[in-house]
Amino acid sequence: MMTSYVNLKIWLLNFVTLFSILSLSHGRRANANFRVRAVNLGGWLVTEGWMKPSLFDGIPNKDFLDGTGLQFKSVTTRKYLCAESGGGTIIVANRTSASGWETFALWRLNEDTFRFRVFNKQFVGLDGINVVAVSNISTDSLTFHVVKESDNSNRVRIKASNGYFLQAKTEDLVTADGSEVNGWGDDDPSVFVMTIGKRMQGEYQVTSGYGPTKAHQVMKEHWKTFIVEDDFKFIASNGLNAVRIPIGWWIASDPTPPPPYVGGSLNALDKAFLWAQKYGLKIILDLHAAPGSQNGFEHSSSRDGSQEWGKTDETIQQTVHVIDFLTARYAKCQSLYAVELINEPLSPGVTLEALNKYYKAGYEAVRKHSSTAYVVLSNRIGPSNPRELFPLANGLMRSVIDVHYYNLFQDVFNDMTVQQNIDFIYNNRSSQLSFVTTSNGPLTFVGEWVAEWQVNGATKEDYQRFAKAQLDVYGRATFGWAYWAFKNVNNHWSLEWMVKNGYIKL
Ligand SMILES: *[C@@H]1O[C@H](CO)[C@@H](O)[C@H](O)[C@H]1NC(C)=O
Ligand SMILES: *[C@@H]1O[C@H](CO)[C@@H](O)[C@H](O)[C@H]1NC(C)=O
Ligand SMILES: *[C@@H]1O[C@H](CO)[C@@H](O)[C@H](O)[C@H]1NC(C)=O
Repeated sequence: MMTSYVNLKIWLLNFVTLFSILSLSHGRRANANFRVRAVNLGGWLVTEGWMKPSLFDGIPNKDFLDGTGLQFKSVTTRKYLCAESGGGTIIVANRTSASGWETFALWRLNEDTFRFRVFNKQFVGLDGINVVAVSNISTDSLTFHVVKESDNSNRVRIKASNGYFLQAKTEDLVTADGSEVNGWGDDDPSVFVMTIGKRMQGEYQVTSGYGPTKAHQVMKEHWKTFIVEDDFKFIASNGLNAVRIPIGWWIASDPTPPPPYVGGSLNALDKAFLWAQKYGLKIILDLHAAPGSQNGFEHSSSRDGSQEWGKTDETIQQTVHVIDFLTARYAKCQSLYAVELINEPLSPGVTLEALNKYYKAGYEAVRKHSSTAYVVLSNRIGPSNPRELFPLANGLMRSVIDVHYYNLFQDVFNDMTVQQNIDFIYNNRSSQLSFVTTSNGPLTFVGEWVAEWQVNGATKEDYQRFAKAQLDVYGRATFGWAYWAFKNVNNHWSLEWMVKNGYIKL
């Protein structure tokens, strides 16, 4: 009797122990009482020009940053330059309107020397005096100068590496043999009217724009002034408990990252950990820019809109190394709460296969140094199944799926009223979030959202209701949420402004 009672007790004890170990392995139970209420801290990585426009102000010839899409209309043919078929041996000046094939993406070498990249990614160059776009390797012979008529004119000449100007001799013949320069008249085949299409303003553009010496100075000043200790204090005393910090891959080679990046970002991140510790905030480290760029956007530090990450094992291995480096450095910090392996990989350029491969290896890299840090897996943006990471995530302890919800960037939101936007949150977003939130699957995180929309003339009260709807719904995410962003020139994108002005109450 006695023995079996003791046995039963031991059995029960084992059961309880086993149960608590098991429940620990399911992030959800272990996390039942804590949810992240975070804000994204742009500042460690330059994610968009409009977060801090003054960063770009001092760049010489700042219309010509890396990735800027230029179009050239010949004044004689009155047609646009075009890389026929997107690239190859045929460059013509016969297009009445300009889009992809007529757009030339800049690579900035210095303030007036560039390479032009065409739609299919080849560089514009010369074959004798013929202008072609056949080389996909960047070399010195593929270099051009852009000479402007004057600072506020859009008339330009393009000087090739042979010392001559490009000219549109006929609609079908573009050559680099113009030497006479007599004025800027409509009869000169070497004169083009330039239109600036897409612009990019990320960290690549800032650092490359200033060039090595000045960039170092500018970035140092930026880190010192954009987000400061007082901001952490403000965040902690206004109902938030965490920050999501976007960073770039080159931080792992600080203080000597490859050009155009400059050293100092690691030291800036160290400070974030000190301040987070002091004010009791948790940190979600977010690898926002991966080598080669995982989405082609400026915020992943793409040079010219191209997306190369995941196409080779080399980019994946390099990224795993960055995660290993960061987790090793901060695993002992109490504030390190989660590591997000990559932000917004874009489908179909990033395949599910490449992403799974990376997530597996990245997860192991975190676990080498920490058994407690959550590992955040960002869902792909672009065409994809919101549950596609489940087969992998279900087998990983303390894994989290990150989804980003913006009532922006898509045509469906163009004509929505205030009420329709709010209904969309309570109905559609709510069911989207439920779809990825399962009782024994990974935790869910709305890692980016904002109380901004495509409604014109909304009132303060409209914004308050829109923000509240999102807080209500995203509050059900089992890991938590993070607002984009803390500081911003656009008031509604700045959580600091929204809180200070009573638009958002936490
Ligand atoms: C432009 O010129 C190319 C090469 O001669 C030709 O193949 C193409 O059809 C022309 N396009 C237009 C719109 O004239
Ligand atoms: C350049 O083009 C060649 C032939 O089209 C291709 O084999 C090679 O992989 C390309 N290289 C790069 C860097 O894109
Ligand atoms: C929102 O959900 C409703 C109901 O499922 C659906 O009819 C509607 O098309 C969705 N709205 C948008 C903009 O996708």
